[in-house]
Amino acid sequence: MITLQTAEDAHAWGTQLAPTLAAGDVIALCGTLGAGKTQITRGIVAGMNSQAAVTSPTFTLVHEYLDGRLPVFHFDFYRMDSAAEVLGIGWDEFLTEPGIIIVEWADMFPDLLPPHTRWFQITPLPDASRTVIEQTNLL
Ligand SMILES: Nc1ncnc2c1ncn2[C@@H]1O[C@H](COP(=O)(O)OP(=O)(O)OP(=O)(O)O)[C@@H](O)[C@H]1O
Ligand SMILES: [Mg+2]
Repeated sequence: MITLQTAEDAHAWGTQLAPTLAAGDVIALCGTLGAGKTQITRGIVAGMNSQAAVTSPTFTLVHEYLDGRLPVFHFDFYRMDSAAEVLGIGWDEFLTEPGIIIVEWADMFPDLLPPHTRWFQITPLPDASRTVIEQTNLL
């Protein structure tokens, strides 16, 4: 378990994670509204040396950050009504891309995530810090 005291810590943790990621990796970020999933994603994208401004995907359903070391495909399942809707935007094709996939609210449709997914549970504490636990046995 790691503790992220501030939003800056969350960004820095994502930035440190980025160099450890390889093409095909899938990162599942789980946690309540405002837990820091997008903030960590910002850090990962920055750590890929992308200049992109990361925001949660809403109307476009997936955001693509293509200017870094590896392409990053950023999903947010919170906006999705069903697993079928995710499949309908080409989920299976994204899984075959030589980039990395980050999914906020991945636990909404866990069956969509491949077995090699790295699952992170982010939990806000009363002092505004967050704990992050990597779960190896979610699937
Ligand atoms: N220790 C911390 N770690 C991460 N974010 C923090 C921390 N402390 C404060 N924050 C703030 O909490 C907010 C987290 O928002 P963020 O959009 O990243 O959450 P989210 O998990 O993506 O939410 P949503 O479920 O709505 O997508 C940001 O405004 C961030 O600055
Ligand atoms: Mg978010």
